[in-house]
Amino acid sequence: MEVVNKYVSLKHHVNGYPSESDFELATTPLQPAPGSGEVIVKNLYLSIDPYQLNRMKRYSSSHTTCPAAAQIEPGQARVAWPLTSRSGNAFVAWSQLTTSLFLLQRINANGVGRVVSSGRAELEEGDVVAGMLGWEQYTVVRPGTVLMKVDAKDLPLSCYASVLGEYSLDLHHIKEHKKDAPNLLTTATGTSGLTAFAGFYDVCKPKKGEKVFVSAASGSVGSLVGQYAKLSGCYVVGCAGSKQKVDLLKGKLGFDDAFNYKEEADLKSALRRYFPEGIDIYFDNVGAAMLEAAVANMNSFGRVAMCGAISEYTNAGERAAPDLIDIIYKRITLRGFLVLDHLHLHEQFSAATSDHLRRGRMISLEDVSVGIESVPTAFVGLFRGDNVGKKLVRVGELEG
Ligand SMILES: NC(=O)c1ccc[n+]([C@@H]2O[C@H](COP(=O)([O-])OP(=O)(O)OC[C@H]3O[C@@H](n4cnc5c(N)ncnc54)[C@H](OP(=O)(O)O)[C@@H]3O)[C@@H](O)[C@H]2O)c1
Repeated sequence: MEVVNKYVSLKHHVNGYPSESDFELATTPLQPAPGSGEVIVKNLYLSIDPYQLNRMKRYSSSHTTCPAAAQIEPGQARVAWPLTSRSGNAFVAWSQLTTSLFLLQRINANGVGRVVSSGRAELEEGDVVAGMLGWEQYTVVRPGTVLMKVDAKDLPLSCYASVLGEYSLDLHHIKEHKKDAPNLLTTATGTSGLTAFAGFYDVCKPKKGEKVFVSAASGSVGSLVGQYAKLSGCYVVGCAGSKQKVDLLKGKLGFDDAFNYKEEADLKSALRRYFPEGIDIYFDNVGAAMLEAAVANMNSFGRVAMCGAISEYTNAGERAAPDLIDIIYKRITLRGFLVLDHLHLHEQFSAATSDHLRRGRMISLEDVSVGIESVPTAFVGLFRGDNVGKKLVRVGELEG
């Protein structure tokens, strides 16, 4: 079958704040090669993630650290894989060729979709799947790329692009695919739930009664971290960029306290006010001045999970310089982590989190835009603080 595909591509590298004009919308026909084992997925929900900005830069030291962080090339003519004759030595490596014959390299993203054409025995038309899709209406998924069948009976489909991600895959399935799926780790990153769970439990190792601070607390990862911390009997304060977000943290999400960091002239004294007895755990999503202020207020043997540094992604001049004497004398651990190093926790995470969601002990906040055209604005909005909870774009309907 052939489908007409609308997709979003990058016009040029982005350094600094992204804007809608960095992207363009294009249309192309898509067709799987007969006998290729390719699957065409009609995309339903796409996950919109801040880390993609680092991939769009002309240079970032992150580009060579793992497949998930690989640089995205601008333009529309860089091709990855021929669509027509792909068998044996017909494989053609990277080259500049016309768009009608070759599958363009898209901006890939986690998502949920419905199979409309399957070259794999284990998948059939109509199956709902989660995996690495793209900023497009349809994605051609190559053999060896993991697609998880989703049985969304009692949780909304969007959960599989946000809090649960494709981690509902069982580990056996992951191991099975590892040998023939070098890009497995690429497909297994970017989802908020496991990031929050692994970062909080594995990196921060919380104890009941400890004092926890979370930045970007109303966002996708932060809102989950705060809820895990409350479920673990911790005292939790979050910061966010508006009154509406602060009210949400204290009201709906059950944080003990929250504040608008944009209204604080001195972050160090603000944190001293909210944590008169000091911070035991800081879950850092933003970096820069907030990290410095948190370190200044940490207790001895405090732990900092360095999950993200969004305020530094857009500003090369913005770099945290925490007081090293504080870190040494207070024996503080600062640990960067990537979710892909914590896949061993996925079963535990998935069981616990699904249960919390079903029983209403946790809320998955989603902020959904509609239509492939809205992807650039959804992405740019992450850096303006437009989103509340997980930013998703609904690009298609399950039926039709
Ligand atoms: N280590 C990993 O494996 C991993 C995995 C996923 C995500 N991450 C990282 O975790 C962080 C959160 O990601 P997410 O997907 O949950 O995004 P998110 O928090 O849902 O969205 C981003 C939020 O960051 C805040 N923000 C934007 N610019 C800021 C700035 N200059 N200073 C302070 N806050 C700013 C905004 O909220 P306000 O209104 O509060 O400003 C915005 O809503 C990001 O840094 C991301 O890269 C890491």
